Amino acid sequence: PILAVIFDLDGVLVHTDQYHYKAWKRMADEEGLGFDESAGDRLRGVSRMESLDIILEKSGRTYTSVEKEALAERKNGYYRELLDRLTPADAAPGSRDILAVCKQQGIKVAIGSSSRNTPVILERLGLKHLFEAVADGNEIVNSKPDPEVFLLAAQKLAIDPEYCIVVEDAEAGLIAAKRAGMKTAAIGIVINSSAAADYRLHRLEELTAVLKG
Ligand code: BG6
Ligand code: MG
Repeated sequence: PILAVIFDLDGVLVHTDQYHYKAWKRMADEEGLGFDESAGDRLRGVSRMESLDIILEKSGRTYTSVEKEALAERKNGYYRELLDRLTPADAAPGSRDILAVCKQQGIKVAIGSSSRNTPVILERLGLKHLFEAVADGNEIVNSKPDPEVFLLAAQKLAIDPEYCIVVEDAEAGLIAAKRAGMKTAAIGIVINSSAAADYRLHRLEELTAVLKG
């Protein structure tokens, strides 16, 4: 049986994946770094500094850690400007409904996100009170595809990993969930490409059928 659902945040419950892309793109353009959507997809699920490393891969020079901190900080400033505009209407279609379904069926719900901006985003969307547990980038050492954030979420819920299902839009996240010993549901861009997906959701509502088994 499935006793808990652990939701990724960016790209699953809210389209902040697009904001991440825009903010990195703005910084990269200012620095004259080539950066496009295909590189953008590799940033899904991975931490802020690992994302920066991916962007800097093709720069042809090495950056000091002080320089890297400054670039990541600048990007985060741009990202926070975009987050300031988020309202409860920006929660992904079907997200409140699926959370209600889980509650109705006695299935616990948690967030498992690499983002250190998770608390701000949940606050702005007005979703925070709907989760029994939140595990995010502020609390972990290793980001996805490491299973740490999902194992932490399960631990906070006091549910064994084998009874958890993770909803993810990132390949790194699906792999992390598998390594945690959890079931996986892919949504968005990875829906057809990931070998780590147990279920494939075109819309969040389709999770209802998965939960019923
Ligand atoms: C993940 C996103 O949720 O959070 C990544 O998918 C992002 O794209 C990561 O890099 C870290 O986010 P933040 O908000 O801590 O910079
Ligand atoms: Mg995501």
